[in-house]
Parts: sequence; C-alpha cells; structure tokens
Amino acid sequence: MSVVVPRPAGPHPLDDPTPAPGALAPVSTLDTDARVLRLDGQWRFRWAPSAGAAEAGIEHPDFDDSAWGTIAVPSSYTMPVHDATVGGPHGAPAYTNVKYPFPVDPPFPPDANPVGDHRLRFALEEVPARAHLRFEGVEGAGDVWLNGIFVGSTRGSRLPTVFEVGDLLAESNVLVVRVHTFSAASYLEDQDEWWNPGIIRSVTLRERPALAIDDVHVVAAWGQNGASLRVDVRTASDAPLTVEIVELGVSVAPGVEVAVPDAQPWSAESPQLYTLRVASPHEVVTTRIGFRTIAIVEGEFTVNGAPIQLRGVNRHEHHPDFGRAVPRETLELDLLLMKRANVNAIRTSHYPPHPDMLDLADELGFWVIDECDFETHGFGDVGWRGNPTDDPAWEAALRDRAARMVERDKNHPSIIMWSLGNEAGTGRNLAAMADEMRGRDATRPLHYEGDQECRDVDVWSRMYAPHDQVAAIGWHEEPPLDDPALDARRRAMPFVLCEYVHAMGTGPGGMTEYQQLFDGHPRLIGGFVWEWLEHGIHRPLPDGRTGTFYGGDFGEPVHDGNFVIDGLVAADRTPRAQLADLAAVFAPLVMSVDAEAGVLHVHSRLDHTDTSRYQLSWRVSSASSSVNADGLDEDGVTQGRAGVFAHRPVPPRGSAEIPLPPPLLEHVRTPGLVVTIEASESDSAVPGMSGWVVARAQVVTVGAEQVRPAAVPAAGILSLSDLVLDESTGAVTAFGEQAVEDWRLELWRAPIDNDFGIGWDQPDTRPNAERWATLGLDRLVSRLVSLSRSDDRVEVVTRIGAAATDVGVTARWTWTVREGALHLALDVTPDSAVGVAVDWARVGVSFALPGSAAGVQWFGRGPGPAYPDTGQAAHWGWFSRTLDGLQERTVRPQESGARADVRWARVALPGSSSSTPDAALEIASPDGVALTVRPWSTATLAATTHDHLLEPDSRTHIVLDLAQSGAGTGACGPGVLPKYQLPAQHVVGELEFRVS
Ligand code: GAL
Repeated sequence: MSVVVPRPAGPHPLDDPTPAPGALAPVSTLDTDARVLRLDGQWRFRWAPSAGAAEAGIEHPDFDDSAWGTIAVPSSYTMPVHDATVGGPHGAPAYTNVKYPFPVDPPFPPDANPVGDHRLRFALEEVPARAHLRFEGVEGAGDVWLNGIFVGSTRGSRLPTVFEVGDLLAESNVLVVRVHTFSAASYLEDQDEWWNPGIIRSVTLRERPALAIDDVHVVAAWGQNGASLRVDVRTASDAPLTVEIVELGVSVAPGVEVAVPDAQPWSAESPQLYTLRVASPHEVVTTRIGFRTIAIVEGEFTVNGAPIQLRGVNRHEHHPDFGRAVPRETLELDLLLMKRANVNAIRTSHYPPHPDMLDLADELGFWVIDECDFETHGFGDVGWRGNPTDDPAWEAALRDRAARMVERDKNHPSIIMWSLGNEAGTGRNLAAMADEMRGRDATRPLHYEGDQECRDVDVWSRMYAPHDQVAAIGWHEEPPLDDPALDARRRAMPFVLCEYVHAMGTGPGGMTEYQQLFDGHPRLIGGFVWEWLEHGIHRPLPDGRTGTFYGGDFGEPVHDGNFVIDGLVAADRTPRAQLADLAAVFAPLVMSVDAEAGVLHVHSRLDHTDTSRYQLSWRVSSASSSVNADGLDEDGVTQGRAGVFAHRPVPPRGSAEIPLPPPLLEHVRTPGLVVTIEASESDSAVPGMSGWVVARAQVVTVGAEQVRPAAVPAAGILSLSDLVLDESTGAVTAFGEQAVEDWRLELWRAPIDNDFGIGWDQPDTRPNAERWATLGLDRLVSRLVSLSRSDDRVEVVTRIGAAATDVGVTARWTWTVREGALHLALDVTPDSAVGVAVDWARVGVSFALPGSAAGVQWFGRGPGPAYPDTGQAAHWGWFSRTLDGLQERTVRPQESGARADVRWARVALPGSSSSTPDAALEIASPDGVALTVRPWSTATLAATTHDHLLEPDSRTHIVLDLAQSGAGTGACGPGVLPKYQLPAQHVVGELEFRVS
C-alpha cells in the first residue's frame, strides 16, 4: 500500500503562520537497511537580495545554472568561507540577541528578504517506487521542487521535514531549494545567535520498501524489578514483524510491555546501550536503546530511583567557518571536551540539535534537555504585544514544532526532559505545546523557563538567579505565587538553573558558590552554564592571518556586538581558561587532605556508580626537584616521589577517609614541598578520557625560603643606589642597569565583559566600567608629594587622582634593601574625603620593561589564570610560560591572564648586551601577588576591539596586584559577590625586586 500525500500547489506563503503543508507526519530517526542516498555535497548556488530580484524559472529541470557558483550542502550560505566557490554576493550573517532584525509586524517578513537558490542534479541507477526526501534542517524558509514539480515548503529551521517523492523520481533528477531568510516562522526563531540561513543539515533520499517500517517508539524503563520494554511499531501495512534486542538475543512482541531480565540500566555515568532491531520482510531498522526511568519523587529529580545532579552546559550549534553546519568531528570534539570538563548534562539551547549529537550523548553518557525550536524574545521589547505564544493563529505551528521534536528524538535515553522553548513569554499556546508533548511521550518531565508560575511544566527553572535567591529556593523559602494552588505545585517541584554563570570574556565568577548550593540542597538539581561555545566567525585578514568577528562586523544596522562571544570554548573549540575552572568546580570527587590525621577525604558527586573507575595517584615537587635543563617544569617529580594508592570504592554520593600510604604521609608533613593528589579516569570507555585527571587536592608546605628554584642562576645583589628614581615624580626608572618605564599605581583594569554589565543584584545600576570612567580610574595621574632619602631607606609619597575629579589616593612607597633585594613596602590610602563609594578593579604596581620578555617562571598558582572568584583549576607549583603562553586571548581584548598567589617570579628579558644574555627581573612577594605580564599596555588592551588588532609594542608590561576585584558574571547575571569585591580601602603590601 502506498501512502498518498497530497502535493501542495505552490510555495507556502511566507506570511502564513501555520505549518507548511505537504510534509509527512514526523517519525523517529532510525537506521535502515533500505537504500539511502545522501545528497550532501556541492550544489549550484545563487544568492539574491529578495525573491523578486532572484532568477525566475529555477525550478525547471532545464534551467541553465552554469553561470552559478557552488556551495557545500549542508552549509550556512552567508558564511565568508563560501566566498570563493559562490563567486558573487551571498549575504552576510547578522547577529542580534533579543531584537528582531526586522520590524515586529507579525506574521509578515520584510520585503528585504534575501534568498539562496540551490540546485542539485543527481542520477539514480534504480528508481525506487517510493522514496522520502528528508531535510534534517533548513534554516529560514525553504521551497522545494523535484524535477520541476513543487514538493513542499519547510518551516522550523532545526527540525526535519520529510516529503514523499517516489512518484517524481527519474534516472536523472534535479532538486531545487530556494531558502528565504525570513518568513512568519522567523518570529518563532528569535534565539540569541546569528541569523544565518541555509540548508544547514543533511539532505537524504530514502527508499521506502512496500513493507516499510515507518516508525518505532520505544519505552525502555528501569524499575524495582529491573528492565522492561515496550516497542510500538508503525508500518504502512500489516507486515509481520520481529523485534529483537540484539546483544541479549531476546525477541519481544511489539505493542506490549515485557520484562527484560538480563538488561543493565542506562545512566549518564554508565551509558549501557542495546541495539533494538525491528524487521519486516522488506526492511530492517535499528535504533539504540537504554533502560532508564525518570521520576520526580518528593521534589527530587530521580533517574532509576536515584536523585541526579546536573552539572551542565548550554550548547548551541555553531562553527567559525561553517556556521550552523557543524562538522561531525567538531561535534565529537565538543562532547569529548565536555567529558574532560566533568560536564554531565547538556541543554540543547535553543533548538533540537543535529541528530548525531543525541546519538553521541546516548553513547558517551550525558543527561540532555532537548529544547524545542521556539523563541519570541523580541516581543518583550514591544511589551509582548502580538506574541505568538499567546495568539491562537500560531497554535498549529507550535504544536507542529513540539510534535516534530518529540517524534524525532523520543527514543534517546539521554533525553531526560523536553523543553518547550526559550524566552517566548507566556500564553495559551504553551499549554497546547505541553499537551502535544505529553500526548506523544508521557515518560519525560517538561521544562520551560519562561513561565515562572510553572503552569505547564514539571520542573521549576530560572536563569541567572543570584545566589541568595537560589539558596532560598533550596530551602523551599521562595516568595509565594499569588495563586496558592500554583504556589503549592511549584513549591513541590525540583529547581534547575537552565542558564547561570555567563562565561563571557574573563570570568565567570561565582561558579563555586553555585555548586555549593547545588550540593547542599536536594531540591536544587543543578544547572547549565551559559554557554558552551563562542559564536565568533572567521574571516581571512589581508596579512594572511584569520580574524574572529562578531556582531556589527558584517554591516548589520541592528546588532548586539560581542554578546555572542560568551563561551567556555572558542568558536574553534580552543578551551578558554574558564573551562578548566569549570572542570574543577564540576569535579565528580571533592578531595582534601588532612595532614594531621593522615587521611584523604573524598566525597563523591556520582549519583549512580561508585568511584572504582578512578585511580588515585600522588606526586611531589619542590624547589630543587622542579627544575629541568630548560627551566621549570610544572610536572617536575623526583624519582621515587610519586605513586598510586588504592582506595575502597566510595558509593554514589558517599564520603570516605582514605589513609595516606607511608611515603605520602611523610611528604605532607615535610617542609618545602608541593604534594599533589589526583584522581584520574583509569580505564574509560570514552575515547580520549583514559588517564584524564578529574579531581585534585594539594598540600603545600613551601615557606618563603623555599620558593626560589635551586637551578635558577643567582640574581645580582642590589643596594639602595641601584634604585633609580625620577626625582621629579618618585617613579622608578631603573633597577640597577635594568631600565623601567611607566612606573605607576594602577586601580583600573581593561574592562572585562562583566564590567560592562549591570550585576542583577547590585544596588548601583551603572556598570563598573562606567563608574570607573566617571571617577577617572582609567586616566590616573600622579603628583609627587615628597621624596626623602636616608642611608637605609627611600621614601616616596605620591597622590594619585584623575582630571576633573577630586577623588584620589595617597601612596607611600618605602624602599629598603633586604638580603640583596630592593624591598618595597607600599601603602595605599584613599582620600578620606572620598564621598563616592567605588569598587576598584585592582591595587597594582604597573610598569614596563624595554624589550619583549622571553618568558616567565614562577612559584604560585597556575598554570592558568586566576582572579579572586575564578581560577578554581589553578593549583600550586613551579611553572614556566613564554610571553605568548601567558596570554589568555579573548575575541574582544580585555583584562585577562593574571597568575594568582605568585610568591616568586623571574621575567626573562632578551639580553640587553652580550655580557648579560640572561637578563632577568626577579620579583618576590611573601604574601603573594597576582602577576600579569603582557606585550601590550592595559590602555591598549582596553582600546582594541578585536584580538587580531592587538599589536605588541616591543615592551614587556607587568602589573603586580596587591588586591583585585573578582570577575563576577555581570555581563548577564549577578555581579561580583560581596566577598570578592574591592571597595576603595586602605591596602598594604610588600614586593622585592632583584635583577640578573
Ligand atoms: C539568556 C538567553 C540566552 C542568551 C543569554 C545571554 O537570556 O536565554 O539565549 O541570550 O541570556 O547570553
């Protein structure tokens, strides 16, 4: 029996808010042994600024497209990487966060509505009687013709559309797709990302045999009695079927629930999958299944009976060259990097992902919130007037989207919640979507952050809620809703932060404190960091390098700048410093050493498995052991001072005290050592994970005398006469023969992205960067108050202030000599008349050295950067980095790269003469300073808009911070937590300088 699908007469009108007719009912993604022809590859392509300006008659098979360029399918056709093959204009990506890039005039798209015309000729050796033409995703609105006949239109950019085309196929075929950038459907797709049209996912032609298997719906559950399975199969006819779990050799009857005695459960920690094989006489399909049951029990979110904690990230689909058409290797890299960062959950913000992502999540083990392709945030800017969420005219489209997501993805064990969408306000259509989803799958709870009354959802979700509010929710002490029934219902729900800690630029601060809340309150089931990746776009630069670009760089009249650059990894997946910090915060084991008791405390955050997968190892380094011929080696270990030790597995969410073995016990009690204990994956099934360190604890017994590595050449002895000052300003101009430039006190930093945001919990609603500019912290000047010398000291007093303000500080610089080093005691006092409350960015000594430093060695925390509320991954040791290696480059330059708690550092300069090839400046600080060393000044950093525009100025700029402000997450969310703020205050500190 063949299915007759009425073929639509012509393209679905672009201003029609209802679903486009002509597509087949949605089904799950199944592997089949029927013939599948991938139509990906090079297609003919031509862009036009509007459909009216495009060439007519492109749908005709004999249309001459020989003058057209080509484009890879899948692709986002506006991406610069396609310049060469398209050979003409092809539009440009456009970035907006909330705003629509066209008038809010629903359901109408603007006249200026570019189109990308795609044509493909393909041959079939054997023409099937029935076939499905399947588009996994067409961003924008597609019109499709096959061999001159209109097949249908697509709506729902990140959802599949399938057409019945068997009767149109011939040996030689021409497939034509016109992609309009905008349509009524664009009002439903206002996610914070690039508007970037194209055929973004694969196109396939699938033969459908007479006794085809159209769909399989699996409910694979895990209960007190073990596994059970129900498989419902949809076929076009009454074909005889066999259903089998391949690995278990078990056959099951379709349509009834059966026990599966030998099966193991699936969880993100132990992702046991089985292959389900369904066969008719004409077709065999397979899908992978995992047995697991989700239940909300007494306000806790459980899987297989155990509560789970989500340590998650929000993942968009973007590639710096290919836009939304993310290559498979990049997807694999994403998930490996997530595993390495101890991430166990993914929210597919804000649309169903490429289907491969879910296959990989099933296989590698992630908890997934699958989110529908639905956001209408821009209506918020117009008071939510006309919001599709509340307009019956859009109900069918929203039901359609809900149905297509659930049907496509229903068999994935990794998916634990469906999300209705994101930031679409509230309204009657949410209930319709919820109804649609529940009607198709009753096994998964629903999520949607936009409705704080939680009328249609099962889990209460918020984004960027400050810590104190999350704590109150953890205690079930949130402010009540007006409606007592709704309030009671919400109060019984688990709570998730679907977005928190905005990973934009330097930061985010506050991760540790959120994790402490999640760990401390069973109601808080965790959260999803915003966001996994930055959406930078690569474009070649005239000098042959590649630049990374953001909103506004493509001529968009309305845009949101670099707000799209806010990820844990760069668009090319280079991890940002915050990824390592996140890994430390998300560690599955929390470890600490009690040297006195001689034990390692281990607490496990695993929910389903014990800790037997981890190996515990230890190593020791010291000032004498940590040096190799090339300088310092952070992994320096002396023979015999490393080992592994056994531990009895800690049960899920359990704690244990593991006795330290004898040599280790001795080391943690010996002065002068850094003892590091690490837990690593011993034998992971995930490729690339074996041996990966997941958690770390340290004991540091290094005193002030033990920081300087034995192998570092001795530094020269300095006396007070080596302190060369500018007598008119009191600024240092040389230490001995080492010239010093631009010596000054610094209270400012090159504003980080978080400094431009308004912390959601701050009383002063002006961003830090603005407050600093008003006070002139970015343009401080100094006046010498006094300079006095005696035999054993030089004392300089300066007053530092800014033009046009009367607010300043007094700095007292007291120089003495201690053990051959120039010793500085610095005392900074804000004017008592300071009637202005201000948080400083830092209290630092800033200066430059002529020439470019070869590198820096240090003892302190590293190897990565740390600010007071970041740097959870930075651990103690001796480290070495080149000047380049010290930089944490961000797409928009900003303060970054400080190394924390530096007690000793050696900045190696290029030889100033042949007699001093190893010229170096040594800096020591008994209490530790934050050390920033870079080839450009703070002012240059602040004034530069893009990383590729940063030019080294042949000097080495050093800032030594006695105090710093945290980073916070004010770009979107709470500002710097009070304990990490740096209000104007009296600050003292000590530094020592030596030169060699
Ligand atoms: C949220 C939104 C995200 C993103 C984020 C800020 O409001 O859901 O899509 O815009 O803020 O980067």
